Amino acid sequence: MESFKKLAKKLEERAFNLVVVGGGYVGLPVAVEFARRGIDTTVLDVDVRKVEMLNRGESYIEDIPSEELKPLVESGKLSATTDRYAYKTADVVVITVPTPLDAEGNPDLSYVRAAIDSLKEYLHPGMLVSLESTTYPGTTDEMAEVLEETGLKVGRDFFMGHSPERINPGDPVWKFHNTPKVVGGLDRLSTELMVRFYSIAVEKVVPVSTARAAELTKLLENTFRAVNIALVNEFAMISHKLNVDIWEVIEAAGTKPFGFMKFYPGPGVGGHCIPIDPLYLLWKVRRLGIDAEFIALADKVNKGMPAFVVSLLEEALKSEGRDIGDEKVLVVGVAYKKNISDTRESPAYRIVELLRSKGARVKYHDPYVPEFMGMKSEKLKPALQWTDTVLIVTDHDNIDWETIAEKASIIVDSRNALRKRGIRPIGRLVVL
Ligand SMILES: NC(=O)c1ccc[n+]([C@@H]2O[C@H](COP(=O)([O-])OP(=O)(O)OC[C@H]3O[C@@H](n4cnc5c(N)ncnc54)[C@H](O)[C@@H]3O)[C@@H](O)[C@H]2O)c1
Repeated sequence: MESFKKLAKKLEERAFNLVVVGGGYVGLPVAVEFARRGIDTTVLDVDVRKVEMLNRGESYIEDIPSEELKPLVESGKLSATTDRYAYKTADVVVITVPTPLDAEGNPDLSYVRAAIDSLKEYLHPGMLVSLESTTYPGTTDEMAEVLEETGLKVGRDFFMGHSPERINPGDPVWKFHNTPKVVGGLDRLSTELMVRFYSIAVEKVVPVSTARAAELTKLLENTFRAVNIALVNEFAMISHKLNVDIWEVIEAAGTKPFGFMKFYPGPGVGGHCIPIDPLYLLWKVRRLGIDAEFIALADKVNKGMPAFVVSLLEEALKSEGRDIGDEKVLVVGVAYKKNISDTRESPAYRIVELLRSKGARVKYHDPYVPEFMGMKSEKLKPALQWTDTVLIVTDHDNIDWETIAEKASIIVDSRNALRKRGIRPIGRLVVL
């Protein structure tokens, strides 16, 4: 109880040190929000380049402008380091390192494990450890066991829980501070401290009874998205055969005031969440002897979309007596979603690969991504002189859509980017 009381007092007085491990898309906004509330915050990252940039007050994440970062760094509230000695004086540690898949498609917890191993050396009584990285249920328990090898006990000496991160890069409305935050501790006192800690920076904190429940909450949210996107992608393929406009159907269905939620088709799913998180769950449940068929099927359908989009282009060219193998194709947008630079797991990789494997020559234009698969982003106008064949993968708002509509003679639009903006192309438009 002594350790609990000590930390509770520090939290109440807002006089504590926070270390955020991993200053990426998730960690940096968390660190900035706490520093803004006057908390002494250190970002601990293994990437020297990021650490140096942060300490100069320069941001590398679109959602955090450098003008916001700089005053926090100058006032000393926010700093960055590669030195794990930062744990020595930390009261709260938030872990936001990557949780990718390994080469076999299984969870790769090596980053989380490395962070826990480095923390272990400095673990001290009165510390709260929050794991924010998305992972399968049971990970926080497993990591606590590693920390308990020090002889310190969770719930008595140190406290630990899981709080799934819901950050949505590029979202102008829902930010870290106004998105409700689910927290689940490994014991009652840990949950209590998690609530008090996050309440400092987040408007609404939602406690659940266990860390496992918090972990599964995140996987339900993202599996829900993956499955619904897959369903609408399947509808897009069906609609194509039926010669029905899927976009019109979605809007019409969306007029139902209850029991329907709009999801849109696309060239596939990308990013660090939707294509990966459900597979963490799949891995876990298979080890429990359950076959989660929905998850596997959604993954299969979504992974099939790049090939479907390329087949639409092939079909359109063929109907004009052209062969994709002789074509030059401009891919517009390669980030996994609009208005951000993140290309992790982007369907653009598979699309470019497929186009190249069919013999097409490929260039791309993406104002957010300077380099991609050995290419450099082309300026739009010269690229449209190079070719009149366009495949739209990402619909960033700052792309010159009017010029594409004026110059291209075949456009495959996997995002409905043109019609959504009320733009009518001169050439042939094929939508998903
Ligand atoms: N990006 C998103 O939209 C999003 C949303 C919700 C949840 N998540 C989850 O959050 C976690 C982090 O994702 P991200 O997108 O911020 O990743 P990221 O790659 O942008 O950032 C992770 C950071 O951790 C650093 N790092 C790696 N190993 C480290 C170590 N041992 N010690 C210190 N730093 C280390 C990396 O250098 C990097 O800067 C993942 O589990 C992801 O699934 C991501």
